[in-house]
Amino acid sequence: MFAADCYRWAWAFVKVKAYSFLCILRRGMEQFESIDAGGYPVINGENVFGHLSGFLETGSYSSIFILVDDNTLRHCLPGLIANVEKLQDAEILEIDSGEENKSIEVCTQLWSALGELGADRRSLLVNLGGGVVGDMGGFVAATFKRGIDFINIPTTLLSQVDASVGGKTGVDLGSLKNEVGVFCDPKAVYIHTDFLYTLEQRQLRSGFAEVIKHALIAGKSYWKKVKSVDPAAVDELALLIPDSIEIKNKIVQEDPKEKGKRKALNFGHTIGHALESYALQNSISLLHGEAIAAGMICEAYISSAVAGLSSGQLSEITEFINEIFPPVKLPRTREKELLKLMRHDKKNVAGNINSTLLKEIGKFVTDKECDEALILESFGYYREKVRQDK
Ligand SMILES: NC(=O)c1ccc[n+]([C@@H]2O[C@H](COP(=O)([O-])OP(=O)(O)OC[C@H]3O[C@@H](n4cnc5c(N)ncnc54)[C@H](O)[C@@H]3O)[C@@H](O)[C@H]2O)c1
Ligand SMILES: [Zn+2]
Repeated sequence: MFAADCYRWAWAFVKVKAYSFLCILRRGMEQFESIDAGGYPVINGENVFGHLSGFLETGSYSSIFILVDDNTLRHCLPGLIANVEKLQDAEILEIDSGEENKSIEVCTQLWSALGELGADRRSLLVNLGGGVVGDMGGFVAATFKRGIDFINIPTTLLSQVDASVGGKTGVDLGSLKNEVGVFCDPKAVYIHTDFLYTLEQRQLRSGFAEVIKHALIAGKSYWKKVKSVDPAAVDELALLIPDSIEIKNKIVQEDPKEKGKRKALNFGHTIGHALESYALQNSISLLHGEAIAAGMICEAYISSAVAGLSSGQLSEITEFINEIFPPVKLPRTREKELLKLMRHDKKNVAGNINSTLLKEIGKFVTDKECDEALILESFGYYREKVRQDK
């Protein structure tokens, strides 16, 4: 699984890839330079690699490790190394891509590899990848020798708009999502939108689900902006990244440990995570954003039943998500399993299923207890409304 020596192999790509990567660096975008995420910077804009080089110059790290998966090794590492000289001697740790590898078993391999390669408390881990690499790399760094520094260089839309910021790290336990983890902030986050050009359309769309979530909890003006974007166009999606990060960051700053307001960011995730766990258990291909998109339709339905969301806004949300995402199968025969998975959700208290719901687009309520019958009703709504012919 690991290829600590794949560093040499990666170098073989550098010369070829560096040229194409530098070509796409030209495209300018509307970006902020840096925002403070409560003690660490999130860097975006034209000079991301310059900022990263500066950070590494002043960091006095004893050694640097870069965590990649097989896709980011191929698509992202060569461009990074070509542009950031200080990373040219870094050790590369490679994992297999995919949610099924966000596991404690892979963490064990990573902790061992770090030890064998001489990592010490002044080592730095660079997480170069999507939410899987970021969540797991952050957890490995937070726990190795009681904690070493790490930075995130998110390479998927989902991780650029959401997962790389906010300090949640962790892994799945079997099929239970994010069951083991810690809150631990990176030293910095470096967002380079050019990484998105090698991402598959399906992965881009998955990231767009988190953007939709931000719009639904944040307000009508962002919702309007999000609705006007072509979700298949990287250049247009990249324009949404600063807004999404600002929305997430503002909420996280007010409630870093998810005691209250931060639960807003879980809209769509009570049902979405259950669908994702169910898919993991049954080897069904379902991306995080695809599960969350279905979860948002169901939870919007529940919102209209008990939280005051108007039927007009419910239809608007349903139609918009339905236009973009393929339908998720919600088999009637497996509903009990899904409810059981929902009872595991970390937001629950005393065995009840709690959820974040919408009062209207841009206004949410957290910790709303959801009746199981109503959740099943929302599945019925989903089946009825979501076109099955796509
Ligand atoms: N920590 C948080 O706050 C938070 C928030 C939201 C989601 N998450 C987690 O994030 C994970 C999902 O993240 P994700 O969607 O980024 O998944 P991912 O990390 O699995 O990446 C998706 C796929 O894209 C590939 N890839 C990554 N960058 C690429 C690039 N530039 N070009 C080509 N291919 C590339 C990966 O190898 C993978 O196959 C889930 O585990 C979810 O629970 C965490
Ligand atoms: Zn999510």
